[in-house]
Amino acid sequence: MIATVTLNPALDRSVYLDKLRPNDTNRIVKVETDIGGKGINASRVLRELGSDTMCLGFVGGKIGRFIAHELGHEGIETDFVHVTHETRMNIGIQEASGSPPTMLDEAGPAVTDAELTELYGKVRVAASKSSMVIFGGSLPPGLPSDIYCTLVGLAQAEGAQAILDADGEPMRLGMEAEPYMIKPNRDEVKRLIGVEIKSLDDAVKAVNTLMETGVQLVVISMGADGAVAGLGQDIWHAVPPKVEVVSTIGSGDSMVAGIAHTIANCGTLAEALKWGSAAGAATAMTNGAEIGRHDRIVELLDQVNVNRL
Ligand SMILES: Nc1ncnc2c1ncn2[C@@H]1O[C@H](COP(=O)(O)OP(=O)(O)OP(=O)(O)O)[C@@H](O)[C@H]1O
Ligand SMILES: [Mg+2]
Repeated sequence: MIATVTLNPALDRSVYLDKLRPNDTNRIVKVETDIGGKGINASRVLRELGSDTMCLGFVGGKIGRFIAHELGHEGIETDFVHVTHETRMNIGIQEASGSPPTMLDEAGPAVTDAELTELYGKVRVAASKSSMVIFGGSLPPGLPSDIYCTLVGLAQAEGAQAILDADGEPMRLGMEAEPYMIKPNRDEVKRLIGVEIKSLDDAVKAVNTLMETGVQLVVISMGADGAVAGLGQDIWHAVPPKVEVVSTIGSGDSMVAGIAHTIANCGTLAEALKWGSAAGAATAMTNGAEIGRHDRIVELLDQVNVNRL
């Protein structure tokens, strides 16, 4: 079992317009609604790949119940903490020009101390039944910024390997618990260690710097430029296939799922990078919050190049 924890899931509503006219009435051409959050995306990809997975985290109100219901409908087990306040809705306004959407993001529901304690208990139980626990995404308001440090510590004390995919202060503090794996992208690396990655060489140096913190497996993802990963003395560069990109939202989460799925099944780092890159590229070919499906991932697998550096 691979558990995932999403502290601040969302209902993502994409609104399609010809052109956004502020301070005027706009006619909506099409609306798409999907559930989102890093752990939820990772669980969906894990399910596609055939891994047993369970979603944990905070959900609240009608939107929260909808999220739990949707996941159940997809055959994904859930053990959410149901909080008093409503889960957030994020609105993306997409214009016909194809330029990046205008995002209107809510902060998310406040969480009480009792609800936080309930989450700790659920994470402990899930970790005791899992080989890996994936933690990902932003925090709802009011949670301690070192929450990932506590959660990674809890999961690893139960014998599971923790994977952390977060940004800024929560990521930096979470790394103090020495998760098994992290997967920052280039912007996140810059915020973590102040290093700008402009070349393969820069990425290799950053992987080595991040491994010195005690994290065993460091994967830096670089969109279409692939990923550089380090484990012990091994450093690999994975290059994804050239694909027709629709939206890269969720590509990183898909990569994390592909890697976790392979490692949980005793695959090598090279194999894990192949599955991770194929899953990331497959998701880049889908709309908004959609994820790459099994057949597409398998089809792309042989087109990923992994090279030992
Ligand atoms: N344009 C692309 N073409 C091919 N593969 C891609 C593309 N974008 C992403 N990928 C694949 O997905 C992996 C992860 O993508 P990326 O670096 O964009 O993650 P991210 O920034 O963490 O994304 P997110 O946080 O939105 O999920 C890449 O290493 C690559 O294998
Ligand atoms: Mg990411």
